[in-house]
Amino acid sequence: MATPQASSLTFQRSPNLPRNCTFDPHDWNILSQYWHPVAFNADLGDKPLSVTLLDEALVIYRLDGKVFAARDVCPHRGAPLSRGWVENGHLVCPYHGLGYGADGKCKHIPSQSDGPIPDRLHLTTYPAQEAYGLVWVSLGGGTQPLPDFPAWNSEGFQQILPPSIDIKASAGRQTEGFIDVAHFAWIHHDSFADRHNPVVPQYSVERRDRGLRAEYVSTVSNFPKSMQHRAPDGFPWRRVFEVDVPFFARLTVHFPENGRLSILNAASPVSSRLTRLFVPIARNFDTDLPLDDVYEFNRQVFEEDRAIVELQCPEDLPIDRSAEAPILADRSSGAYRRALADIGLGQAYVR
Ligand code: FES
Ligand SMILES: [Fe+2]
Repeated sequence: MATPQASSLTFQRSPNLPRNCTFDPHDWNILSQYWHPVAFNADLGDKPLSVTLLDEALVIYRLDGKVFAARDVCPHRGAPLSRGWVENGHLVCPYHGLGYGADGKCKHIPSQSDGPIPDRLHLTTYPAQEAYGLVWVSLGGGTQPLPDFPAWNSEGFQQILPPSIDIKASAGRQTEGFIDVAHFAWIHHDSFADRHNPVVPQYSVERRDRGLRAEYVSTVSNFPKSMQHRAPDGFPWRRVFEVDVPFFARLTVHFPENGRLSILNAASPVSSRLTRLFVPIARNFDTDLPLDDVYEFNRQVFEEDRAIVELQCPEDLPIDRSAEAPILADRSSGAYRRALADIGLGQAYVR
């Protein structure tokens, strides 16, 4: 088993694991310190939304335009606040109409015209913020930085938000699949790669503070099959993968004529066996083409991945290097597993 080297990071223990937590408690406490995406910010209007993160049922809502997150349980009699609504700057519970303010405290009890409001009528709230078109929540206080995605706000880059994809697999397996370059020829033969071009040329992998950087040059096109004539034969496709633990990977693909496509693979751990994948994309070419084609290509590629990732066994990503057999092309996934081990994850992963 890899030795955890979490000395540079100190994680706070959370006293309350979610009911029916599917994670190892040690892993849950580590994962809770990070920010995770839970929804598209455009979907969060006046109505509260129900989402689940790390097995915790949450309500997310807007008060005065600002995003908030709380346990989806009213402290009065346990009704789900996500079934309620926002009114007069309060989140209103649907059962007895109690209204909660931006500080999480109850401000209004309709059944009493005066009298004290008990202190215990206080929501369990969590840090929430918006970035890259998404709402992000941290259950453990947000002690770790949000993953960076500089292309999203770069001049000349178009912002694209394909629909999310639910994958019945762990976020670790999904993220490792995203940085795996040897599967292109096999899994993505129909969408962009070529079964007759399976060789993975040597590529470089560097460990970084928060993960790794891998640079991979090959002749595997990144255009959909119907557009591959747009790159000259033998074009050297450069793909740069930058991973931030636990489940974020930026892929920048260098297209012909200085085109750049940047994808943030942001895998949200709904539970240890369910991942909601968000993939904000920024690109500086074809910005006038219909986005439906991008959504469809994205769906096809990630569905191809989903079909295999959902079948991998064991479901948790093995951190113990002897549990699976690496091949030469696996340098980036080996570095990814070591980065997860370094923050202390996976001590109970192999079951
Ligand atoms: S359960 Fe929420 S107001 Fe009573
Ligand atoms: Fe893939």
